[in-house]
Amino acid sequence: VRFASDNNAGVCPEVLAAILAEAERSDAAYGWDQASARLEQRLSEVFEHPVLAVPVATGTAANALALAFTNPVWGGVLCHQDAHILVDECAAPTVLGGGLTLVGTPGPNGRLSVQGVEDALADRRDSGVHTVPVTGLSLTQSSEAGTRYPPGELAALGELARRHAMRVHMDGARFANAVAAAGTSPAELSWRAGVDVLTLGATKDGALAAEVIVVFADDLRRRGEELERLRKRSGHLLSKQRFLSAQLEAWLLDGAWLRHADHANTLAADLAQGLRSRGVEVLHPVEANMVFALLSSEQHQAAQAAGAVYYTERPRGRRAGEDRVEARLVTSWSSTMSEVDEMIRVIGSA
Ligand SMILES: Cc1ncc(COP(=O)(O)O)c(C=O)c1O
Repeated sequence: VRFASDNNAGVCPEVLAAILAEAERSDAAYGWDQASARLEQRLSEVFEHPVLAVPVATGTAANALALAFTNPVWGGVLCHQDAHILVDECAAPTVLGGGLTLVGTPGPNGRLSVQGVEDALADRRDSGVHTVPVTGLSLTQSSEAGTRYPPGELAALGELARRHAMRVHMDGARFANAVAAAGTSPAELSWRAGVDVLTLGATKDGALAAEVIVVFADDLRRRGEELERLRKRSGHLLSKQRFLSAQLEAWLLDGAWLRHADHANTLAADLAQGLRSRGVEVLHPVEANMVFALLSSEQHQAAQAAGAVYYTERPRGRRAGEDRVEARLVTSWSSTMSEVDEMIRVIGSA
């Protein structure tokens, strides 16, 4: 029973086959290869918009480079207080962004709201040259709490960002899960809602290691060489980039990315429903592939004894004195229904 992380899953057959096929070939280095050219074309089709596609090997590199590219060194990026860019990237966006500031803001269920962003902006003191101006807005889709921004809410945030001259970055480490669950087009959840640059992650959804910075905004695409130089000088330009591109191409082909994400989402929904039916409190709406469950210490111990693997946190700042633990249960493309059933059974019997 493995629910620790979608990063713990293996490599899906489509991606593995593409790596093996690419391994038989020889092609140009540093992104001048055929797979990279095809990938950009493929992404333009998937997103129904011309894009600049810049593949990298990690989500942290993708986020940090995208933010460094879209904000001035003196700028500030507003994000959720639990955003990966703020709490899980060891200040990479600040390092690659030449001192870029990240401004964490609260919001229920891992999401920012229009009102929350308006309030955060209104709360910031403006002393001209002495203060950091907010130049960017970063949204995680699907969020760190396993929730999604519906297209309407996203468009309202995009509109707000435009009014305040903020660039919009989307951390799409789990964008596939959001698209699969929303049943709307990738375009609807990105550039049509005002997203300027998306970091699209494949690693958690079946790739070996492949993420891609997808640039939509016309002016940013024209400045693409700056992004290329940022990537090179930070050491994230792979000579054998074609192996990143081949992974991403195979992942997108025939909707494999959405099939795998849908599988993970469906199992998360089943897991949440099963746990709720056993009286377990589930903390956030389950809208992608993560379930946050409050387990009693007996349930937690029983699950551990049965060999279940997942991360835990003490419930943050709530229910002081109680001993329930917050279990973060993440499903992936390789999770199985029997793992879900076993988890529900063990928790139910405790
Ligand atoms: C929301 C989010 N963004 C980005 C990442 C990418 O991180 P990494 O640099 O580990 O690939 C992760 C991985 O856990 C994540 O959860």
